[in-house]
Amino acid sequence: MKVQVLTKHLEVHDIYRYELAAVDGSPLPPFTAGAHIDVEIKPGLIRQYSLCSRPDENHRYEIAVLRAPDSRGGSDAMHLIINAGDVITISEPRNHFPLDTRATKSILIAGGIGVTPILCMAERLSQQDADFEMHYCARSKDRMAFRDRIARAKYASQVQTHFDDGPQEQKLDIDRLLAHQESGAHLYVCGPTGFMTWVLDAAARAGWGPDRVHREYFSTTPISTADDKTFSVKLARSGLVIPIASDQSVVEALAAKGVSIPVSCEQGICGTCLTRVIDGEPDHRDMFMTDAEHAVNDQFTPCCSRSKSAMLVLDL
Ligand code: FES
Repeated sequence: MKVQVLTKHLEVHDIYRYELAAVDGSPLPPFTAGAHIDVEIKPGLIRQYSLCSRPDENHRYEIAVLRAPDSRGGSDAMHLIINAGDVITISEPRNHFPLDTRATKSILIAGGIGVTPILCMAERLSQQDADFEMHYCARSKDRMAFRDRIARAKYASQVQTHFDDGPQEQKLDIDRLLAHQESGAHLYVCGPTGFMTWVLDAAARAGWGPDRVHREYFSTTPISTADDKTFSVKLARSGLVIPIASDQSVVEALAAKGVSIPVSCEQGICGTCLTRVIDGEPDHRDMFMTDAEHAVNDQFTPCCSRSKSAMLVLDL
């Protein structure tokens, strides 16, 4: 859908905040805490951004974009091309990172720009008077986005900040935090990949089951493709067999044969391209599915994942 950029505001060093509204001012589709939208920055360049406005607002969406040093072009282009007054195309909100209504307590942990969905969750839990605490880790105080908003929030006392360049005693003791929580507590984490691994490993050490741990990645760890091999994909409905070259993704190979699979992030984060696997063993390279979901091998992300078996039969 088309929306207008109402404001573009430099939130903090390298992070711009954008307010989006319907071009005719009508209400926007509702969303739940943790949801994101796809933004078409320019033709062929689509990126996902978490909504950080309050979930009870329907007159605007708010997103915040960090200009990432390792940007594949998305955040750079967003900062340079998109300005207040522009009309841009976005998707309706989708949520792969929802709050679990069974939680008796929620532990929200944000690293850097990963604060965007976490902030939205804090707003929602606060509105519900739910038991939660939020931990916000940033490199330094002057790189902490939404400082004023959090300071003014009703839930400000439930937020603890932790700065990499601050004294040791204010740093997040992740093992201690996760060791003594009630059995109904749920953990939510969003941040850079290394940060996520640090938190998720601590959760595993402390015995948190996967059903109580929720995470959203916004970038992937680069995987070496030097040893990628050829394999084939069979489309179950037509019987068509398509070879996949070692330097080609499944999406690319299928597109060359006129079979298009919808994609968005093209790096295994968003789940847009998720495709059902009928036979064969995928080589999962996405961060969208959990380890348990990978182990079932009944679906894969053809934008980045490959195959361990010589043939993958897809439900296409
Ligand atoms: Fe996003 Fe494949 S397009 S996971």
